Amino acid sequence: MTEKSLVSLTGQKTSLLLNIAEGAELLYWGKKLQASPDAQARALSRAVPYGRLDSDVPVTLMPESGRGLFSSPGLEGHAQGKHWSPVFTLKTIEHLDSGIVIYSEDSVAKLLLKTELMLDKESDVIKLCHTLTNNGEARYTVNRLALTLTVPERASECLSFYGRWVHEFQQQRQVIQHGGYQQENRRGRTSHEHFPALVVGTNAFNETCGEVWGVHLAWSGNHRLRVDVKADGRRFIQAEALYYPGEIELAQGESVSTPWLYASYSASGLNSMSQQFHRYVREHILRFSPAEKVRPLHLNTWEGIYFDHRPEYIMQMASEAAKMGVERFIIDDGWFRGRNDDKAALGDWYLDEQKYPHGLEPVIEHVLAQGMTFGLWVEPEMISKNSDLYRQHPDWLLQLADYDQPTGRNQYVLDLSRDEVFEWLLARLDSLLSQYQISYLKWDMNREVVQPGHLGRAAQTRQVERVYQLIDRLRAQHPQVEIESCAAGGGRIDYEILKRTQRVWPSDNNDALERQFIQRGFSYFFPPEIMGAHIGARHSHSTRRVADIHFRGITALFGHMGIELDPVKESEEEKAGFSHYIALHKQYRSLIHSGDLYRLPGDDPAAQVISAIVAKDQRQALVSVAQIAMPTWALSGALRVTGLLAQQRYRVSVIACADNFRQGIVNTQPAWVYEGAELSGEWLEQAGLAMPVLDPESALLLLIEAIN
Ligand code: GLA
Repeated sequence: MTEKSLVSLTGQKTSLLLNIAEGAELLYWGKKLQASPDAQARALSRAVPYGRLDSDVPVTLMPESGRGLFSSPGLEGHAQGKHWSPVFTLKTIEHLDSGIVIYSEDSVAKLLLKTELMLDKESDVIKLCHTLTNNGEARYTVNRLALTLTVPERASECLSFYGRWVHEFQQQRQVIQHGGYQQENRRGRTSHEHFPALVVGTNAFNETCGEVWGVHLAWSGNHRLRVDVKADGRRFIQAEALYYPGEIELAQGESVSTPWLYASYSASGLNSMSQQFHRYVREHILRFSPAEKVRPLHLNTWEGIYFDHRPEYIMQMASEAAKMGVERFIIDDGWFRGRNDDKAALGDWYLDEQKYPHGLEPVIEHVLAQGMTFGLWVEPEMISKNSDLYRQHPDWLLQLADYDQPTGRNQYVLDLSRDEVFEWLLARLDSLLSQYQISYLKWDMNREVVQPGHLGRAAQTRQVERVYQLIDRLRAQHPQVEIESCAAGGGRIDYEILKRTQRVWPSDNNDALERQFIQRGFSYFFPPEIMGAHIGARHSHSTRRVADIHFRGITALFGHMGIELDPVKESEEEKAGFSHYIALHKQYRSLIHSGDLYRLPGDDPAAQVISAIVAKDQRQALVSVAQIAMPTWALSGALRVTGLLAQQRYRVSVIACADNFRQGIVNTQPAWVYEGAELSGEWLEQAGLAMPVLDPESALLLLIEAIN
């Protein structure tokens, strides 16, 4: 290790130090170092123990088995059976303002590797990508191309996410001691099962304490994430897109890139890590339509009417929605030719003239006349066998021709690698957006992908890239149109799809209780303004659980809010409740959609989920306390709020609660509940407020405002 081989990157709170002598080894990734680390880096030169290779082998950003590393390599591939153990040597390094680009080469295998590592100085989020180019004459088959980040040996626990349909973003904690942890998704979309992110951290890290290193792979297809602990105790995180056999073959001069891996370190627990990711997403990933800077309140028709589309009735729904303050009205599935259930018609993206004999225009005009904008549901990548499109083009399926693949929701996937399919789809969507005044598409993807074959070869990776291209082309033609990413709920939520969509649908589960957990898991990597959060009917359609309007309203408030029900059929009392929470959301959405989110621990974490959103200037905050189960004790301790200015005095008041909250649950609630309280930021953080008593499955919303 010489000083010349050291490269350091520094952000607001993070430093990175790389040794690029033998591959690029991440020597340090942690809390910002004040003095230049270069001269001291020699202190990290490792011992060479007996019983191993006679020299030290670094774990680099591209671990190589040919260098003697007995771990999962960063590249597995071959040129017709040769060059299967490449070793790269540094050629050049480009120093950019925000990071470095390292070019290295295996001159025997004639492979070129470009590694881009950037650190965003404002948010402390790093991003990493490898691009492999084959300069050899023989085709190079890439089996795996992975991104690797080493983490210190004290990173001993892992937080990962699992789930399924209507149960997304669930959390799992485990100790990583020997071996490690691995998760794979082979479902052809980002998946409900394994959201491509995880966090490792020091012993018992939590929201406010401990060092954490979080990573997210920005890829909407198959992937693998692992945390490996080597026999010598060193550990690393590795992330990659998963390829099917033969899927990536590079002819001479051709390249393949990994997805971007985004990562961030925090010395003070998960809240800071999430705030760093949120900031990065807000500043570098999201692109809202200029006309829609304020996130408009939605009504989505799905759970209100399902496939039963009657234009007169839908217009009635729109009138009711507008009266309650809805700003964007979205017609979900069921509007196109022959779509009476989920067994037919995908691909026939023409208005069903039997259902809409006077066209869609009168409905849209009605919606616009009420002061709302109009959105439409589509599921472009799909095809039903019972459709005109299939009858005309049975060969347009993504499939292996000699096999029968199982359906998912009775449907198949279109082969987007075929230019004629891609161009036809683009033209169809373009024509819908040109014909009608549509300013929003809910873009769905309801099935998992089996045997993604294109002309006999695997084409899953290409399929995902073509979806990105399709959205990019469509948005270039219709820049004002916003898109929501939905895949049977939360099956396609990641930073790469988010670069081209403005909202995501985290779950088909609108049950407020379930949503408390789903939205919590979601919040680690995504900010609230992209999270579709709808007030559903009293009886949840996914669980049949009943929740009052306050629990549903407060739960939906902390996202991009909407309602999903039939307002025509709702009682006056329910409608008054929707109007109330819609107005409340509008009043505070600029805070919710720009502030810092804190997941607050509370004294009864088994029974409460507590969140705060604190304004950037720290003069205002909203706090939601959701009682998710019976309180463990008769009293639930104190509510302490972080993120405020210590010396500032604040007024705290209850602004939403269950009808029986002030009386009926207990003899009396704490005095501040009735009178409000004036307290310093320091007091609120250190001592807090006596926690009121709440019924299970109810919630409380507090407003904290600076005095003067
Ligand atoms: C998926 C979506 C739902 C709805 C239906 C329509 O399940 O997640 O929100 O749009 O499709 O078929």
